[in-house]
Amino acid sequence: MRKTLSQFLMALCLVFFADAAWAALDASTALEVLKRNDCTKCHSTQKSKNGPAYVKVAQKYKGDPKAEEKLFKHLTSNPKVKLADGTEEEHKKTDFKNDDDLREFIRWILSL
Ligand code: HEC
Repeated sequence: MRKTLSQFLMALCLVFFADAAWAALDASTALEVLKRNDCTKCHSTQKSKNGPAYVKVAQKYKGDPKAEEKLFKHLTSNPKVKLADGTEEEHKKTDFKNDDDLREFIRWILSL
């Protein structure tokens, strides 16, 4: 009986930690994408640089059911953006190989 209980608790712990590790992996994967694609040159999650902080982006789109679609377009169509010094340039794309990964990344930004 005692053994069964401890086995049960052990299994519960494993499920819990696997879940926590998965969540942490998501955020660190997202940050890695930002670094790899040079997004960090103009963006950070908390502080606006040349581009808006991602927390601001999330705020701007709060409650907008089309938010994911809009950001998807933004990140796939190289729109012209204005930098802090007034110059314009084409916005970068990410190097995601498939749309689902990009959408997951976008949902991460919107969840900040
Ligand atoms: C050269 C600077 C620069 C780089 C590099 C850059 N961005 Fe941006 N980004 C901007 C600017 C400026 C805006 C604001 C555009 C606007 O509001 O018109 C912006 C806006 C955004 C937005 C919000 C769009 C919206 O509709 O509000 C997202 C999301 C974003 N960038 C993601 C990224 C990602 C992901 C990368 C890397 C692949 C990246 N950016 C690289 C300058 C940059």
